[in-house]
Amino acid sequence: MKSVRILQYSFDPHSSGEFPLNLAELFPKGHALAVEVGCGNGEFLVEWAKTKKEWNFVGVELSIASAERFLTRVFQHELHNVIFVRDDARFILRELFPDESVKQVMLNFPDPWPKEKHKSRRIIDPRFVQTLSAVLEYDGLFDLFTDQQWYAQDAEHLFKASGAFAVSNIQQDPERITSTKYERKWKEQFRQIYHLQAIKKKRLQIKRILEESIMPHFIGKKQLKPALIRGLKGLEKIDKTRVFKVKEIFEKQDEQTFLLRTVAVDEDYLQTFFILVASHEQGFIVKLDQGFQPYRTPAVKWAVEVIGKMLIEK
Ligand SMILES: C[S@@+](CC[C@H](N)C(=O)[O-])C[C@H]1O[C@@H](n2cnc3c(N)ncnc32)[C@H](O)[C@@H]1O
Repeated sequence: MKSVRILQYSFDPHSSGEFPLNLAELFPKGHALAVEVGCGNGEFLVEWAKTKKEWNFVGVELSIASAERFLTRVFQHELHNVIFVRDDARFILRELFPDESVKQVMLNFPDPWPKEKHKSRRIIDPRFVQTLSAVLEYDGLFDLFTDQQWYAQDAEHLFKASGAFAVSNIQQDPERITSTKYERKWKEQFRQIYHLQAIKKKRLQIKRILEESIMPHFIGKKQLKPALIRGLKGLEKIDKTRVFKVKEIFEKQDEQTFLLRTVAVDEDYLQTFFILVASHEQGFIVKLDQGFQPYRTPAVKWAVEVIGKMLIEK
């Protein structure tokens, strides 16, 4: 029963047909909105939400293990102003939140990814700064707490270079409403804590990839050819911003229904989904399978389009 009840705090945006989201539906009680990016087990967010009962909060986190701890914690504290999204916060912040909808974004102790080859995994990069310049309200705040001075300095440089924020000086040993797991870990190792705050002053242009999300489907007016479909395994296409690859093909014994397990990447956002190829009253149909919904990104649409057109033309 507990597991059912903690799920009330978990929000799956895939179910929404509208991106960016209609926040009035998600939060019927308007109020200010705050987002914690990489919120881990929720220690900070719970304390933050308790101090601002009149605000709404969204925690975004990649790790499934942390998600479970987060949801249990929010449930135990009976907070009704918090929801959780398990996904890449860079994508979620950009695609789900409308312009000027968020009052404050918090980032506590992000993985710094110091090596050049891992740089693309860092949360703060020029695109993230652009996203913040769009989704934050004017005079809305972004706060970074980190144990890595160079990371704070890099962030300071990016925010200043954007021209869209008033940026504070980096502060050492800032006051905190509570500590987090990683904060305690670094303090035990006598590391300094650094705080950077950026205040939104200007909106920069951003490109959201979910805004146009109509999904193509294809109808072939001929018999389905099983050998042709099996031959799609391993099919891969790459262009500047999109990649997809058909990894595996499952088929029903009657050779009339096929599921193509496909991986697609838009810039650095990866999704796995299934494309259905099945017999149809007019011949056969190729479409996104309904069972496991990805976001309808350009790479996902491209995969369906390429496969649909290939099967129709051959
Ligand atoms: C070092 S931990 C800090 C966790 C927590 N904020 C704390 O202070 O204890 C970094 C967290 O960020 C999460 N994370 C890393 N990249 C992320 C991303 N792109 N989107 C969402 N969460 C991310 C990781 O899963 C991890 O839980």
